[in-house]
Amino acid sequence: MSDSQSAAKSAETSEAQIASHWKEEGYYRPPVTFIAQANLADPEIDDRFAEANFPRCFEEYAELLSWYERWHTVLDTSDPPFWKWFVGGKLNASYNCVDRHLAKYKNKAAIIFVPEPEDEEPVAMTYQELYARVNEFAALLRDFAGLKAGDRVTIHMPMVAELPITMLACARLGVIHSVVFGGFSGEACGLRAADSGSRVLIYMDGYHRSGKLIDHKASAEIAVDVAEKEGQKIDKVLVWKRYPEKYTSATPMKEGRDFFVDEVLEKYRRARVAPVPMDAEAPLFLMYTSGTTGKPKGCQHRTGGYLAYAAATSKFIQDIHPEDVYWCMADIGWITGHSYIVYGPLAVAATAVIYEGTPTFPDAGRPWRIAERLDVNIFHTSPTAIRMLRKAGADEPAKYRYRFKHMTTVGEPIEPEVWKWYYEVVGKGQAVIVDTWWQTETGGFLCSTKPALDPMKPGSAGPGMPGIYPVILDEKGEVMSAGTGKAGNMCIRNPWPGIMQTIWGDRDRFTRQYYAKYCKDKSSKRWQDWPYFAGDGAVHAADGYFRILGRVDDVINVAGHRLGTKELESACLTVPEVAEAAVVPVADDVKGRVPEIYVSLKPGYAPTKEITDSIVGTIELMIGKIARPRKVHIVPDMPKTRSGKIMRRVLAAISNTLDTGDISTLANPDVVEQIRQAVQGKEKVATKEGPEDLKLFGKEE
Ligand code: WT7
Repeated sequence: MSDSQSAAKSAETSEAQIASHWKEEGYYRPPVTFIAQANLADPEIDDRFAEANFPRCFEEYAELLSWYERWHTVLDTSDPPFWKWFVGGKLNASYNCVDRHLAKYKNKAAIIFVPEPEDEEPVAMTYQELYARVNEFAALLRDFAGLKAGDRVTIHMPMVAELPITMLACARLGVIHSVVFGGFSGEACGLRAADSGSRVLIYMDGYHRSGKLIDHKASAEIAVDVAEKEGQKIDKVLVWKRYPEKYTSATPMKEGRDFFVDEVLEKYRRARVAPVPMDAEAPLFLMYTSGTTGKPKGCQHRTGGYLAYAAATSKFIQDIHPEDVYWCMADIGWITGHSYIVYGPLAVAATAVIYEGTPTFPDAGRPWRIAERLDVNIFHTSPTAIRMLRKAGADEPAKYRYRFKHMTTVGEPIEPEVWKWYYEVVGKGQAVIVDTWWQTETGGFLCSTKPALDPMKPGSAGPGMPGIYPVILDEKGEVMSAGTGKAGNMCIRNPWPGIMQTIWGDRDRFTRQYYAKYCKDKSSKRWQDWPYFAGDGAVHAADGYFRILGRVDDVINVAGHRLGTKELESACLTVPEVAEAAVVPVADDVKGRVPEIYVSLKPGYAPTKEITDSIVGTIELMIGKIARPRKVHIVPDMPKTRSGKIMRRVLAAISNTLDTGDISTLANPDVVEQIRQAVQGKEKVATKEGPEDLKLFGKEE
């Protein structure tokens, strides 16, 4: 970038530090009944985790785990920004989540699986049973699939108890798992399998979702082909059966490649596999997420730091005690499920509920019936699910006799109105709420109120967590102090144990994406010189609470899940008629944001419904239904800068009926009005009021 360009850019983005017209909400205090039993009720935690005690303070987290060997160095900063935690320590994640609980809790439920069909009863699995199954499956992975520490395995499974069993069996051997969200397409799975270099895929034949039995194994066929096209041969596909007595998929099992897990397991009944002591820094898993460039990135998480962070935040922020019944209604295929269904809760001997299906199936009372039946007392979900349940059944919770002591919202900003419904109606005014802000990259929560200690403020995530020092920086890297009401870039000044190690196979991209923006001295070995750039816009209130606005990069947060605009655009460009594509976020009542697509066609093609359908179909095929656009607009031309860049910001403004701002410098300003009329009709009047993240979108271009 030339100097004049970068000057223009910072001039433009400083405009983006728009004043926020947010009304400050009042505080809600945690109920005394909650405080009386909380794991974290000692206000001295703030002193213990103050900067003067960093990084030593995090030893307290690591000490929640069982180690074969203790670390000699808490934090090694010799290779910034590739921080190393608890160096020299050895542990095993499967041992920490299973074996060590047997002495006290072997007869207690570890996992309660709730099938979607309501006529199938919930199934509880004790820690002892989990132990037996993890061992048997680990034996199969080692002796039948030939897997060993450091190998990668791709797991594409729905929400069933066999998924954590599979993950923990991998962890027992030091095999690095990469779980792909069950709702993603076979294509998406194949690309991730290839990127991670997996030669084994693990599947389930089918599962229930919204009243249908989905043929999931069908996607394995596509995944294998796609991986092979990318140069990664898959030699085994291990297939769990949803029902032991029948195979529910219509796709044939391929001789010599596909194996039913239950049949192969016969050989490994009663097997015991000693957990492999792993270095604290050995990778535990990969979790792919969308970034600003086309290809999803494999966030690589370490064993020791990650597990310590997930366990401690489960204990102190989720307030999980072994006697609680904890239900995180997220999918294990996302980071939320990894940290707060599997690793964190099981590390602290929780009873974790796993629900197979959709929250609103068969009706919006379903989650509350499950909560009543299992006597769930900790409930964790996303704003999208809360909005959906409120819309479909605002009065349903009152009909059921459950009592939550604690509830979590995570994944997107929550509107104060929705928060209040969650508090009053779902929580019946008796539960504490934590709004936890974090990311796939961060392993665990970064901002949240401490449930027994800090008051709640609807719509605000809260202050930095113990040992996390957040800061809002402007485009030049200057600190934007609390209480100004201006939006800036959310950053964390320090490393923490849960931060990812790197992007799998791409160290440069890791540094570029998260640290290049604000590191002033790349040769520095001091962590103080390497603030972590989260990619979110945020406002820092005078009381120290952070309100997260949403993404400032080319990422769209749909229902709490990240989609890269470039990923969607590349999918559109595979449709033969499409010349150019641009994806923008549009505000949606339930999902927060949904993608809308603009395309222009190659010369000689006229817009048709077939082209639109084929674009939607291609996106579903290449990414999955979650990425389904709300609308596809075929436009005569894209609004462009003189240097030919598509102005997504202008398109986003049109889709959201916001003011398009100054367009006089575009190469083709006339097309903007044409597009506006085609999308909005003649009469619509744009407004300046709207969600701030939508006004920030595309400003970086
Ligand atoms: C993005 C990360 C964190 C696990 C689930 C999503 C948004 C996350 C909050 C929150 C407002 C939030 C951010 C973040 N986000 N939590 N409490 N309030 N926004 O993980 O897919 O990596 O997405 O989700 O924009 O960057 P992810």
